[in-house]
Amino acid sequence: MHCIGVGKAFLISLLFATLSYAENGNSSPSTTGIAFDSNDTPSPTGGSFIPNPSGNWISPPYRWFFQYPLPIAPIHTPTLTWTDAASNAAIDFYEVEVKAFQKQIYPDLPATEMVGYNGLAPGPMFVMQQGREAVVRYTNNGPTNVSVHVHGQYDRAPFDGWAGDFALPGQYKDYYYPNAQNARTIWYHDHTEFHTGENAYKGQEGFYLLRDSHEQSLGLPSGDHDVTLMFGSKTYNQDGSLNYDTNNGIGLWGDVISVNAQPWPYFEVEPRKYRLRLLNGAISRTFSLSFVPDGPSGFGKDPIEFDVIGSDSGLLSHPVRTDGLAFSMGERYEIVIDFAGYEGQNITVHNVRGMGENIDYAATDFCMRFVVGYTVVDDSNNGDVPQELRYIPPPPDQSPSKEFAFTRTDDGEWVINGVGWSDIENRILTRPERGDDEIWTLTNGGGNGTHPVHIHLVDFQVLSRTGGRNEVLPYESAGEKDVVWLAGGETVQVVARYAPWPGVYMFHCHNLVHEDNDMLVAFNVSQLAEWGYSEDTQFIDPMTPEFRPKDVNPDDYTTAAIMAKLAWFYSTNAYNRGNVEGVYSELEAYSAGNYGQESSTSSSQTFSNTATPTTPTTLMTFVSSTTTPPESVLSATTPAPYTTSLTILPPPPPTTTTTTALDNYKSTSPQTTAYRGWQRPPTRNQRRNFNNR
Ligand SMILES: *[C@@H]1O[C@H](CO)[C@@H](O)[C@H](O)[C@H]1NC(C)=O
Ligand SMILES: *[C@@H]1O[C@H](CO)[C@@H](O)[C@H](O)[C@H]1NC(C)=O
Ligand SMILES: *[C@@H]1O[C@H](CO)[C@@H](O)[C@H](O)[C@H]1NC(C)=O
Ligand SMILES: *[C@@H]1O[C@H](CO)[C@@H](O)[C@H](O)[C@H]1NC(C)=O
Repeated sequence: MHCIGVGKAFLISLLFATLSYAENGNSSPSTTGIAFDSNDTPSPTGGSFIPNPSGNWISPPYRWFFQYPLPIAPIHTPTLTWTDAASNAAIDFYEVEVKAFQKQIYPDLPATEMVGYNGLAPGPMFVMQQGREAVVRYTNNGPTNVSVHVHGQYDRAPFDGWAGDFALPGQYKDYYYPNAQNARTIWYHDHTEFHTGENAYKGQEGFYLLRDSHEQSLGLPSGDHDVTLMFGSKTYNQDGSLNYDTNNGIGLWGDVISVNAQPWPYFEVEPRKYRLRLLNGAISRTFSLSFVPDGPSGFGKDPIEFDVIGSDSGLLSHPVRTDGLAFSMGERYEIVIDFAGYEGQNITVHNVRGMGENIDYAATDFCMRFVVGYTVVDDSNNGDVPQELRYIPPPPDQSPSKEFAFTRTDDGEWVINGVGWSDIENRILTRPERGDDEIWTLTNGGGNGTHPVHIHLVDFQVLSRTGGRNEVLPYESAGEKDVVWLAGGETVQVVARYAPWPGVYMFHCHNLVHEDNDMLVAFNVSQLAEWGYSEDTQFIDPMTPEFRPKDVNPDDYTTAAIMAKLAWFYSTNAYNRGNVEGVYSELEAYSAGNYGQESSTSSSQTFSNTATPTTPTTLMTFVSSTTTPPESVLSATTPAPYTTSLTILPPPPPTTTTTTALDNYKSTSPQTTAYRGWQRPPTRNQRRNFNNR
């Protein structure tokens, strides 16, 4: 199959055919599917391209390409700060209201109804400094249930956005965040069971940046030259409302590409270096981006080379030079790109067609445009990118390995080792010992899925990829991540240290349609009771009653009540007084067998989890009890209302032994599907062929 130069109709049908790509045993990356649309034409206005206006749409055709500026989310500011008199430690308090709002997407249609953080899409941007804790109060004044996950931070389990821990309309929840990790581009989004996709799609997504002094000393582009870009892809109805059609639980690829919630925006830049923080915030669409200067005749110029400097968990060890970058849902990459030399030109961000299981539409091969000015107004932090960015320890030589298969049942339920979220008794698939390194082997077992796998709590390293692309991409291996793209036919190995906290955390597919249709399970990091943790230690159960959402009560919103609550959070010592490094060294000492020896007195002091938190009397009403809460993660929150066309699996046959991940793996029969979909960015020759056509 050679798509270059073929007609549009055939191309569209071919791309639809990717839904049933199993028969075609083509397993090597090839030019298949790389199809710059032959109908894309130079605009009459001197070289800039406009997408082919006659292509296939589901939404009302969008005609305002690159006519509206890129919106940038406002930086959120705290309303109060509490400081501990003894240690001077501070906790900043932020408030966010989840509410319905309207956004004008189509200039000629009614405004689109959305629901988002402070009525904004993307939500307000958090910019946090390492070492300064925060509490964020989310008040749900919207029509949906709300659970907020900060994706990329090791929050204690009750503050991690557990899917069953949602606030009903009229409730609020306070999330206590450590902000203790290295600098990273992370994000916050809804995680409500069975509704994550729709809630994120309708607006509940925003950036959460963590800064640290090391990163700030590197001279990377900053201020106006440090820009967040959230890629999305949606579909609209004729009346301008959002259309959430999941194709029977397979995916919602969308035909209207947006960046920061604006379809095909433009962004004016100076001819200098920029740091761009890219987030794939789409529900199901993967992207493969390149930055192409518009030329007078077709795709006349090679894409611009740039440096990838960061990924999900912060800076890479060194910059990775590339002219194209592919990323799946939930992944983040940071790049430094230099617009010097492109004065007065337009640079369009192209997206490769035919990626993975994407379905492409008229203009899904374009995302946004940079309009390069003639003068550099601010030349600060415009130097070379340092060749050493951050120390990243080599992965461990050997670790226990666990296997997880991502499959779809005949009933259309997406599952991991045969288990989905609705299977409440079995959905804790594995119990890593706290502090241990474990290799997880993730296998795409077919069923037409591309699965970005997100593991909460940990940063991992990608060790290998077999099948499919058959390689770990250089920008995947040079850093640490929390999402890995498991495309059709692939098996990927990742290694992580299951630390620093014990407790129950989720892992899942970040195609949010799959997640909501049950590809969401959990792991329980063991408590290491020998350390002197009593069973009433808080924070291991994400549904601990003390931390659950409460009905909105004006008394809880007074300055005095908030200050008392911040003091109470501090007294829980959720984050070891900010000394998380101390937690890691304790864990290392423990796994090296040193625990209980001479040094244990001092180490248990640094690590002491000061018993029961002291509770200010004014807050007695919301602290239900200091006794052990029931294991409420095991209790049903809602019945499983995932897509009605699906049926829930019958309960698994009774087992006498504890089901291990491996047993579950064996009990399913993962199909292997011939890999077909992933595409590299076009090579120079392919682009030349296109241009010479
Ligand atoms: C560059 O893009 C802007 C915004 O879309 C447009 O107004 C302008 O005409 C373009 N310039 C050229 C030289 O094509
Ligand atoms: C919120 O959750 C409650 C309890 O599970 C459920 O009854 C209600 O229908 C949910 N509301 C929405 C808007 O999904
Ligand atoms: C992919 O989907 C098609 C259409 O639903 C189906 O016929 C085919 O068997 C699926 N392939 C796999 C590997 O499940
Ligand atoms: C998680 O493991 C701890 C022991 O580390 C145990 O006390 C707790 O009950 C487990 N939780 C669940 C839901 O299995």
